[in-house]
Amino acid sequence: MNPSKLFSRLQELRKQIQYHNYRYYVLNDPIISDYEYDQLYAELVAIEQEHPEWITPDSPTQRVGGLVAERFEKVQHPVPILSLSNAFTKAEVQEWFERIAKLDERVREADFIVEPKIDGLTVVLHYQDGVFQRGATRGDGMVGEDVTANLRTIKALPLKIPVSAQNTIKVPTSLVVRGEVFITMQDFEQLNRRLEEMGEKTYLNPRNTASGSLRQLDPRITATRPLTLLTYDIVSMEGEPPKTQSELLEMLYDFGFPVVENRYCANLNEVFEAYDNFLRRRDELGYEADGVVIKLNDIVLAQQLGVVGKDPRGAIAFKYPAREVSTKLLSIGVNVGRTGVLTPYAILSPVEIGGVIVKQATLHNFDFIAQKDIRIGDVVLIKRAGDVIPYVIGPIIEQRDGDEQVFVPPKNCPVCDQPVEHLEGEVAWYCVNAACPAQVVRNIEHFVSRSAMDIVGVGINLVEQFVQAGLLSDAADLYRLNREDLLQLEGFAEKKAENVLQAIASSKKQSLARLIIGLGIRGVGEVVAADLAQRFKSLDALMSATLEELQSIEGIGPNTAQAIVDWFRQPRNRELLAKLRSAGVWPVEEEIKQDEIKQVFAGKTFVVTGGLQRFTREEVKEFIEKRGGRVTESVSKKTDYVLVGQNPGSKLEKARALNIPVLDEAQFLEMAEK
Ligand code: IVH
Repeated sequence: MNPSKLFSRLQELRKQIQYHNYRYYVLNDPIISDYEYDQLYAELVAIEQEHPEWITPDSPTQRVGGLVAERFEKVQHPVPILSLSNAFTKAEVQEWFERIAKLDERVREADFIVEPKIDGLTVVLHYQDGVFQRGATRGDGMVGEDVTANLRTIKALPLKIPVSAQNTIKVPTSLVVRGEVFITMQDFEQLNRRLEEMGEKTYLNPRNTASGSLRQLDPRITATRPLTLLTYDIVSMEGEPPKTQSELLEMLYDFGFPVVENRYCANLNEVFEAYDNFLRRRDELGYEADGVVIKLNDIVLAQQLGVVGKDPRGAIAFKYPAREVSTKLLSIGVNVGRTGVLTPYAILSPVEIGGVIVKQATLHNFDFIAQKDIRIGDVVLIKRAGDVIPYVIGPIIEQRDGDEQVFVPPKNCPVCDQPVEHLEGEVAWYCVNAACPAQVVRNIEHFVSRSAMDIVGVGINLVEQFVQAGLLSDAADLYRLNREDLLQLEGFAEKKAENVLQAIASSKKQSLARLIIGLGIRGVGEVVAADLAQRFKSLDALMSATLEELQSIEGIGPNTAQAIVDWFRQPRNRELLAKLRSAGVWPVEEEIKQDEIKQVFAGKTFVVTGGLQRFTREEVKEFIEKRGGRVTESVSKKTDYVLVGQNPGSKLEKARALNIPVLDEAQFLEMAEK
């Protein structure tokens, strides 16, 4: 291709990639597959490699770059980055309203915008001619820290605006936007699970994680953290600024920023309704919100009302009831996980937090207990945020009476009594006895679980019962169970025994990927297992894979590759494999040609909500895509079907409101078989 054609192709690719990023990270509504996206990206990388002189900072390939910094430079904010005063009751909000109405009568007729108050970190984002130049933390409100390189790694943050290729909106030459960087609950828990499996320190809560990640000196580390962004304010701009908060949010949206959810309220009563509504949906937002922000819609009026200290008069934070309480730490228990990791947990004097009775809370790891000097008998502060498991924040030292006892981590496994070990460089302590009953139970429990072999009706209680009765020493023993074995157990009659045996037998037909998940290799979850099954097609091939072969698969790093090789070397695991093979549990991935699958969903768009029986989210997506359909995140008029599992979210309501056909799993499978 001649240089000028190649250059236009490069520009076209950048535009397209930017747009697809936006569809994916901002709108949650991608319109191309990951594969197609990767192709575009690879093509751009290739052109830039050929012509490094064409690389510009706004190229989507330049999100992770820059050097490890020694410290952050200071950035002067264009105007003070203000804070908010707080209200805790409706009466206090009413008082605020009266106060400002006295200052300006127009307030009595005013309308409002109500937004969730995201519990993250304020960032101030500078754009020049639509290109992201610089981003800073709030700091003291006047001067913040330059965290540009880290912010660039956040895919929801537009490097160039307007984002949409079709968008012809004019962007101000200079624009400074304020938003909040945070981590969703789901990403937080997933990150912690990953860290725990690798024996690394887990994080305390989403906010600390976001804060630590944003203030990393090495942007490559930040890039591995699931940070995301929502914006809610324009700090300054050239040209005519919006007159109302609704116009402002709309403007941000049109530029391509991810914008905070919001409600228009015509009066204070509607504000209270919006508060109640957000509070009810607190756990559904996906991120931690500690209240709502009530803003006068009229920005000019709000500015005229002025500021008290650092708090503008025209807005107020209406906080939710705290989800922190104190209670007595009765004792500390220790769990043994599937990989043998020992994790301490707090046994508490039962206490209510936000309508839930809490009796236990996580204590992360033994280092945490020592660092925080948490003692048995202490009164401790507990937090329950969203769906995150409650955790101990720390002791309230002032309430000590001297009877508290320092906790000594066990030297032996609390279950099998074998000595525990500590790996160099890791915080975790392990029980390394693979025959430890706790590990055996957890391993089998993992094997039968929904994301692995999905043996319906066999849960933790049955697994424990089988192990205790001496019927199972590993997962392969499941396939040796017979009617007589089961009938001698408490609680088993003909029917139940038959059902259990039936469920076990039919799991023999599960896919190779599911069996690989079921093996419980460190670092091998759904995504890696699917890649391994795709690449190796059978356990025979996977067993003899070398480190190099494994590492050549994208997404498999040196640690996971090593863990896979080590797993297959262990005599105990080899024995398990031999037993599985002789039981006939030895799936082989068959190449099904794409054109042999009937394209029953051709051109149809699905949204999935709630938990499905037969599929994980990834699997159902793949299943639909293989049949010509596509899956998007949010329900809109363009959605053809909403597939509903257990505990569906608000998407179901939305589908009903828009009159979109709703399918349950059985109806969906029936459609697929046509
Ligand atoms: S408006 C003058 N809106 O809450 C404008 N702030 O205590 C003041 N925050 O530091 C900010 N979500 O980091 C605003 N929807 C939202 C917000 C929000 C979270 C944070 C912000 C601020 C703190 C105020």
